[in-house]
Amino acid sequence: MTYNIAVLDGDGIGPEICNGAIKVLKRVGEKFGHTFNFRHLLIGGCAIDATGSPLPEETVNACLASDSVLLGAVGGYKWDNLPGDKRPEKGLLGIRKAMGLYSNIRPAKLWKSLAKASPLKYELVKDGVEIIIVRELIGGIYFGDRERGTDKNGAEYALDTEKYSVPEIERITRIACELAMKRSKKLVSVDKANVLETSRLWRKTVHEYAAKNFPEVEVTDVLVDNMAMQIVKNPAQFDVVVTSNIFGDILSDEAAQVTGSIGMLASSSLGDTARGLYEPIHGSAPDIAGKDIANPIATILAAAMMLRDSFNLTREYDAIESAIQKVLDKNIRTADIMEEGMIKVSGSVMSDLIADVI
Ligand code: IPM
Ligand code: MG
Repeated sequence: MTYNIAVLDGDGIGPEICNGAIKVLKRVGEKFGHTFNFRHLLIGGCAIDATGSPLPEETVNACLASDSVLLGAVGGYKWDNLPGDKRPEKGLLGIRKAMGLYSNIRPAKLWKSLAKASPLKYELVKDGVEIIIVRELIGGIYFGDRERGTDKNGAEYALDTEKYSVPEIERITRIACELAMKRSKKLVSVDKANVLETSRLWRKTVHEYAAKNFPEVEVTDVLVDNMAMQIVKNPAQFDVVVTSNIFGDILSDEAAQVTGSIGMLASSSLGDTARGLYEPIHGSAPDIAGKDIANPIATILAAAMMLRDSFNLTREYDAIESAIQKVLDKNIRTADIMEEGMIKVSGSVMSDLIADVI
């Protein structure tokens, strides 16, 4: 089969980590007999520099015409002082919306060989941690009405609105329940229902929808502040977690950090078609860009998730995952996951070694 992949390299370390993933995909193509075509498109700061917009129309059209999209990372100091709607991040939010990607899956998995890298006490993580955060991605306060003005007393104010409709909550609940059914059948829903009206609707809808359509899934509610605490107190208690856009943004960084290796975590964003957007969880790391020290594994895993979740290529996913494990088992590390007694390699060598063992 031939697959057309749109590559949004983005800014900072984006191009180098995408390069690593492309190398691995090419190797998978050779081994399993697929052709992957890559078309590079602009997004974020580099798109602002080249076209004035963080999300040129050409990029949107090409993504919508592709079989799936691989994204590096966007943003950097250079563009930090631009107004809200001209920032690189706006490009990322825009492409999520344009592609209708309402479901963002962020697995925070502790690789056993890296358990010592977790900032938590070893006994809290020694049996493994795998929290899969299902984040609603194109609703809530990220996309609600926004305003800046001066009130009648002359005070400057700003306003952001959180809004969720029942269908928006139901469709993300369905994704989370489907995932829970394949795993522990336990689902934790995170909200702030003791304060927010959107959270009260969220909680009611999640329960009603799950009870009606996935009666085997056991749904537990956890308030977001408590959740932030539980993730560091006892991360192993969680499996699938569903939550709103902003809570998912915050908690997924926390869960990622618990694994000790944000450079190892990937995420997928999907809507109602097989076409998704796959990206590492980490950012563009402008401080280390161009030095070939960034860890490409998160992006390589993102590419692997694309094969599995958009193209239904499960064996190919497994081949990449086990290649990563093999390289880690040979004590090879990039700088971010380096420990005493291990062999430190550059980002490009890391991706070469992974491609070689496939
Ligand atoms: C993420 C990022 C983005 C978000 C930013 C870059 C807009 O933090 O993907 O988690 O908040 O969604
Ligand atoms: Mg974030």
